Amino acid sequence: IRSIEDVDTENKRVILRADLNVPLKDGEVTDTTRIDRLLPTLELLQRNGAKIVLISHFGRPKGERIAEYSLKPVADTLRAALPEAKIEFVQDCVGKVAHDAIEAMEPGDIVLLENLRYHPGEEANDEAFADELAKFGDLYVNDAFSAAHRAHASTAAIAERLPAYAGLLMLEEIRALEKALEDPQRPVMAVVGGSKVSTKIAVLDNLAQKADIIVVGGGMANTFLFAHGVDVGKSLCEEDATGLVKRIEGHANQSDCEIVLPTDAVTAKALEAGVETEQHSISSIPADSMILDVGPETVADLKRRLADVKTLLWNGPLGAFEIAPFEEGTFEVAREAARLTKEGKLVSVGGGGDTVAALKAAGAADDFTYVSTAGGAFLEWLEGKQLPGIAALAAETDETAET
Ligand code: 3PG
Repeated sequence: IRSIEDVDTENKRVILRADLNVPLKDGEVTDTTRIDRLLPTLELLQRNGAKIVLISHFGRPKGERIAEYSLKPVADTLRAALPEAKIEFVQDCVGKVAHDAIEAMEPGDIVLLENLRYHPGEEANDEAFADELAKFGDLYVNDAFSAAHRAHASTAAIAERLPAYAGLLMLEEIRALEKALEDPQRPVMAVVGGSKVSTKIAVLDNLAQKADIIVVGGGMANTFLFAHGVDVGKSLCEEDATGLVKRIEGHANQSDCEIVLPTDAVTAKALEAGVETEQHSISSIPADSMILDVGPETVADLKRRLADVKTLLWNGPLGAFEIAPFEEGTFEVAREAARLTKEGKLVSVGGGGDTVAALKAAGAADDFTYVSTAGGAFLEWLEGKQLPGIAALAAETDETAET
């Protein structure tokens, strides 16, 4: 993969594919992380005299021009982040309006084009739509790791049409995740939480081959416990997933990967804020209660184990962290990981929408070695899949190498 740092962009029109799919409430961006993390690439391109044609998807308007999915509010956030820059928002990502705005650009200017997904050609990875987009650039930069699991016109087909490069955020994500998963310092502990085993089978299977310890948390842990004959009361549990659990455990066993399950739990009769809670050993969960968080014994065990591992990969909370007080287990373990990282004893990498929200709420995110901007793409990476957005950049490099 070629880096944007290695190309002369002076006076060139650079199509920059970003992931500006940020949370929005009442027309205001409520979390600017993805925009903040894009700034180094924007600033580099500006310093190097590029004309930046910024493209992104926003939400899932499914090929229709639906006002609530406009990227316009993002232009305001960008202007606030880069007050010196000339930033123009254009109502469409193809056609005459976009063409005219790009023609009028000076080096250092930024034109933000409207949501790519207003056009069905984007998600269809349509050749003609990719041609339309490619016309606007002399070269193409993909800085949207978090959209790299999509083979869309702006992440895949376009890379065959222009010299293609990875942006700084894309490179940072790939390097951090490769270091944690492909070439880590051992032992490696993976924390995999979330509600359903069935959505994380591929992740667990792949991690069973790569990690030394997998801590299973969240609702998924109940399914594992149930498969071991534990009575989990009214807990969220996939009773028909016993076969899957056994298969994953078999794979882990073959690769000498230890699977760690909770030994105690915080339970309640309902998943409601402020509800009365109890603590129970896993072998004595009351029939009328639900497991909603890991208990203190499990937290202490995980903290002890953390002290012995060198790399931590985290995807998925340990409990129902959105509702107090069921965040405590996740927060306590996250803070311990952050502390060990700060002391230089641990490499910690977290990713996935819920996980990042939990790490931030715990005040642990800033001390983690790396927090990915990706949700779905991070999961597919953990599954060991090739991401089409990265493959497209790599294919382009191979072709150039051959000619
Ligand atoms: C994300 O938020 O994970 C990315 O922007 C991808 O969005 P998508 O799932 O709608 O493709």
